[in-house]
Amino acid sequence: MSVSNASHATPAPARSEQILSAERVDFSVDAPGGRLTILNNISLSLNSGQTLAIVGASGSGKTTLLGLLAGLETPTNGHIELAGTQLNELSEDQRAALRRARVGFVFQSFHLLPSMTALENVMLALEIAQLDQVRERALSALEQVGLSHRLEHYPRQLSGGEQQRVAIARAFASNPDILFADEPTGNLDRSNGNAIADLLFALNEQHGTALVLVTHDMKLAERCQRIAIMDDGRLSEQPPE
Ligand SMILES: Nc1ncnc2c1ncn2[C@@H]1O[C@H](COP(=O)(O)OP(=O)(O)O)[C@@H](O)[C@H]1O
Ligand SMILES: [Mg+2]
Repeated sequence: MSVSNASHATPAPARSEQILSAERVDFSVDAPGGRLTILNNISLSLNSGQTLAIVGASGSGKTTLLGLLAGLETPTNGHIELAGTQLNELSEDQRAALRRARVGFVFQSFHLLPSMTALENVMLALEIAQLDQVRERALSALEQVGLSHRLEHYPRQLSGGEQQRVAIARAFASNPDILFADEPTGNLDRSNGNAIADLLFALNEQHGTALVLVTHDMKLAERCQRIAIMDDGRLSEQPPE
């Protein structure tokens, strides 16, 4: 299935619509010591354009949950709906097409390709998503993150904060409906971390992109509209103030 088919099957939702829901999701794996439950009965829903922070101790299951919500992994039990589509009704290829068309990712350790320049890293993601005007879109995304003067630089020639800006440009260049960010400021000092956070929230506001942000930083979490706490594979949400 091509990306354009995926787009037709799942038209962009209006802002107030639900972009993501998880219903009674469990995830367990077979480990040497026996069956290991990593996520336990998680239910969650997010509207288009909303921001949600997920906080919790290391090893509590946050990264695993993002992988399931984005369709990278399949739950053991339960259902996940992303951008109007039940993920369990899609093949692996169809889920990949949906992700390329509708989802952006930002990781703690940037995940740029070291042999490509900033511009090439962003262009490659757009080419994989089979979008047109790849160069124009990439230039515009890098301009929005303040990196027009670093287009031809390789990741090793960029600071951590600059590398994360490239990763954010790459994630936003295809104009996704939802962005998953897994500890995006975790490898940065406070001032670079704050600048990256400012950028994520600015792009959320300008583009209406829903944001699911995993972080250890309560100050950062509090900038989101909602905060959920992961504790040993169970998710509970703080009541709104
Ligand atoms: N495929 C897997 N097989 C076995 N254990 C796993 C697997 N994936 C994750 N885990 C375990 O699940 C727990 C949650 O991991 P993770 O989601 O990375 O937590 P967090 O992101 O909150 O630090 C950890 O104990 C981790 O070792
Ligand atoms: Mg993690």
